Amino acid sequence: MSTAYPTVGVASGLPRYSYLLRLLHWVIAVLLITALIGGMTLGTLGYERLVELVGVEMAGYAYMGHKTLGITILGLMVLRLLVRVSQGTPEYAIDLSRAQHFFAGLVHFLLYVLVIAMPIIGWLATAAAGNPVNFGTYELPGFIGQDPELSKTLFQAHTVVALCIIALIVIHVAAAFYHARVRRDWVTTRISLFN
Ligand code: HEM
Repeated sequence: MSTAYPTVGVASGLPRYSYLLRLLHWVIAVLLITALIGGMTLGTLGYERLVELVGVEMAGYAYMGHKTLGITILGLMVLRLLVRVSQGTPEYAIDLSRAQHFFAGLVHFLLYVLVIAMPIIGWLATAAAGNPVNFGTYELPGFIGQDPELSKTLFQAHTVVALCIIALIVIHVAAAFYHARVRRDWVTTRISLFN
C-alpha cells in the first residue's frame, strides 16, 4: 500500500525540534498536569476542609507548592517561547492538509496563550485576595492591592482557563495518538525525547 507520507522505519533524519525544546515540552507537560490535579484538589476541598484533613502546616505547604509550581511553569513557558521564536519550528516531513496545519497551529497557539495566562491569573487572584504569592520560601510582589471582588472574578477565570486547557490537552493528545498509532506518519517524532 502506498502512502503520501513516510511509514514505519523512516524515523532517522526527519526534521524535529531541538533537544532543549523537546525537553521543555515534556517537563512542562508533567508539571502542568501536576498543577491541574493539585489545583483542582485545592479548589474542590477549599482551605478549611484541607486544614481539617491535613492540618494548618500541611495545608500551607500545599498552597505554597501549587503557587511555586505554577510560577515555575510560567518561567519555563517564557523560556520555551523565546527559544521557539529564536530557533523557529521544523518543517513537517509529511504532507499535512491545510486544515490539519491550521488546527494544529491553532491548538498549539491557544496552549501557549492559556498556559502563560493561567499562572498570571493565579498570581493576581492570590494577590487580590491579600494572600502571599509564594515561590518556595520567597514572597514575590503581588503587583495589585487587596480587592476581594476582583480576586473572586480572577479565581473564576482561573477555573475557566483550567477547563479550556484540559479540553486542549485532550485534543492535543488525541491528535498525537492519531499520528502515532493510526497514520504512523512520524509527526510525533518531532517532539519525542528518545527516538
Ligand atoms: C500553569 C499554572 C497553573 C495551573 C495549571 C493551575 C491550576 C489550578 C486549578 C485547576 C485550580 C482549581 C480551580 C478551581 O477551584 O476550580 C487552581 C486553584 C488555585 N490556584 Fe492555580 N494554577 C496555576 C498557577 C497558579 C499560580 C501561579 C498561583 C498563585 C501564585 C495559583 C494559585 C491558586 C490558588 C490559591 C488556588 C485555590 C483557589 C481556591 O482555593 O479556591 N495558581 N489552580
